[in-house]
Amino acid sequence: MKRLKLAAIGCGARAQTYLSLAAQMPQKYEIVAAADPVPERVEKIKALADNPDFRGYSSAAAILAGDKLADVMIIATQDRFHFEPCKLAMEKGYDILLEKPISPDLSEVHQLQKITRQLQRRVVVCHVLRYTEFYGKVKEIIDSGVLGNIITLNASEGVLPWHQAHSYVRGHWANVEKGSPMIVAKSSHDMDIIHWLIGERCTAISSFGALTYFTPENAPAGAPERCTDGCPIGDHCMYNAKLYAGVHRHEWLSLIYDRARAASDEEVYQWLKTGPWGRCVYRCDNTAVDHQVVSMQFKGNITATFTMTAFEHERHLDIFGTEGILKSGKFYKDQTGADIIVTRHDSGEVTRYRLDSSDDLNDGHYGGDKGLMTALYDEMNKTDTGEMHTSLSSSVHGHEMAFAAEKARLENRVVQLQQMKRSPSSMRIIKLSERNRAPKCEY
Ligand SMILES: NC(=O)c1ccc[n+]([C@@H]2O[C@H](COP(=O)([O-])OP(=O)(O)OC[C@H]3O[C@@H](n4cnc5c(N)ncnc54)[C@H](O)[C@@H]3O)[C@@H](O)[C@H]2O)c1
Repeated sequence: MKRLKLAAIGCGARAQTYLSLAAQMPQKYEIVAAADPVPERVEKIKALADNPDFRGYSSAAAILAGDKLADVMIIATQDRFHFEPCKLAMEKGYDILLEKPISPDLSEVHQLQKITRQLQRRVVVCHVLRYTEFYGKVKEIIDSGVLGNIITLNASEGVLPWHQAHSYVRGHWANVEKGSPMIVAKSSHDMDIIHWLIGERCTAISSFGALTYFTPENAPAGAPERCTDGCPIGDHCMYNAKLYAGVHRHEWLSLIYDRARAASDEEVYQWLKTGPWGRCVYRCDNTAVDHQVVSMQFKGNITATFTMTAFEHERHLDIFGTEGILKSGKFYKDQTGADIIVTRHDSGEVTRYRLDSSDDLNDGHYGGDKGLMTALYDEMNKTDTGEMHTSLSSSVHGHEMAFAAEKARLENRVVQLQQMKRSPSSMRIIKLSERNRAPKCEY
């Protein structure tokens, strides 16, 4: 078995996750090179690679300037820096593992789709949820016919209050102008999954949502700009940044602070005094919505809804078919112990599915990160790119849905999906006003 050579552009949280999984599969992968302006991050990948010939670079430009070094280039830079390195790497002859979102600009998504076809490159998009046992089982149940034809699907994503604060209030994706709109940044996963499960193209979308809670008006009396400035309610605030040194050190601080494991509490507090993650959650420059609903119509008059909210835990999914109902998600799991429950309309027969991976639900996107890296080898060896599970082409429609939902929300109207193909330039994300409020209702 010929090993697949992997290189990476961007050695932050995601690349470290994928490459530490690759390092556990040495029969499949060899890590040969990585680029990042932060030398410690390149060193982390070098340690994972355990390869005397490993080559480190300080930027995407540097790694792409020389000869092709690997079979697959992992593009794990921030959202607004996916297009250029992905395009250049394809031109250099690399196949690509590309982080989602493909780009925060839909015209760039379509350009990459065109280049992929022209150059006949394999591009796998990191839609990790499709590689989970959970969504794989849901798809298998749908395909078995036990639900009959899908008529309606309701999905929700509970981001969790702390996750919202970490990523979308203080963090990388808080400010839409610097990252991507929430529905693209976070919920492009969900748009992709909904499209994949229904198996038809979406025809029309409407959406509402706003930034309602993480705003200055909701700041407690006397709360200073930073949690390290002696906040009067700090001891009782669930968003206190000092929790990064405690309960949130392992899962969250490690994503953003290279010395998270070794640092003393005092070192973390000093770091919080100047960085974005030390700010009071009610006093940030965030524009990302903290709740959004989307309603969708698919070919064949199938309907679906999606709710993203900071104030729910985990994902839920209900599917209503002509022959049966499927219900799943944390609430049902907590109540019944089952991951998925299917009820037939005719007999009332109930089937409960408990999945092998259900104890790792919080681990690496419900096991999707590992599922992706396990599958990547075979995906990159498929001769027919149309057979690839999360190829760029198969991922574009989910992105079009996400951009259409954002357009519908901002313009307060129903958006026809056909429009997203016809005038992609209109989908450059519209400059938002100071705060990303819901549009005013006219009646
Ligand atoms: N698939 C998923 O479920 C999932 C989950 C989280 C994040 N993401 C996406 O993954 C991407 C990376 O997220 P992350 O959390 O790892 O971000 P990160 O900020 O931890 O990592 C990005 C890295 O890119 C590096 N970088 C910046 N400029 C560079 C350049 N010119 N050349 C090379 N490297 C450069 C940065 O120094 C940083 O280390 C984002 O697009 C994000 O939206 C996907």
